Amino acid sequence: MAARCLTVAVFAALVLAQASCSSSKPTKVTKVQIMGFDWKNCGQPDAPAVLKALTLSPDPITIPGDLKASASGSTSVELSAPLAVNVTLEKEVAGFWVKVPCLEEVGSCHYQDACDILNQLIPPGQDCPEPLHTYGLPCHCPFKAGSYTLPTSDFYLPDVELPYWLTNGNYRIQGVLGSQGKELGCLKVSLSIHSA
Ligand SMILES: *[C@@H]1O[C@H](CO)[C@@H](O)[C@H](O)[C@H]1NC(C)=O
Repeated sequence: MAARCLTVAVFAALVLAQASCSSSKPTKVTKVQIMGFDWKNCGQPDAPAVLKALTLSPDPITIPGDLKASASGSTSVELSAPLAVNVTLEKEVAGFWVKVPCLEEVGSCHYQDACDILNQLIPPGQDCPEPLHTYGLPCHCPFKAGSYTLPTSDFYLPDVELPYWLTNGNYRIQGVLGSQGKELGCLKVSLSIHSA
């Protein structure tokens, strides 16, 4: 769950930034394609929180469009606030990986507490959004130690306006989850963005 929580936080941050950037500098994009999505854990072999599976289809993923996703992960410790997340976003430029700085909460940013971000996105006290609710998956801290599985589910990805700096190319994202100075998990994601 930690890793999934992390993934959720990363994508949530991307979505938030799209919203905030679009007001200042809209980029008219009709269709976005995400290709070659891949992921791996990057923590210590004994890291408490690991993602065990994550499948997205189709490839390419088209936005707006339909997405099928399944995921499973586990944590051997309870994940409770504050849950720090350090994200490093890199873009391939002329064969080199260049770190993208933190711009309006997106890019290579340090988030003090992913629990707090989740509370802002999904007000506590209401049902978790589908398909989490159907499968009894939690969407708020604390996340109890254990295994979490999201069976293959359908999502609709609505039209988005990408931040102006999120241009076509290859990206890799690393997210490190920690609490009280201890690393709990690490996830690396790579993908390519093509918009028209
Ligand atoms: C995030 O980065 C800061 C500054 O480098 C560091 O102090 C902190 O321990 C890091 N946290 C995680 C979860 O990696």
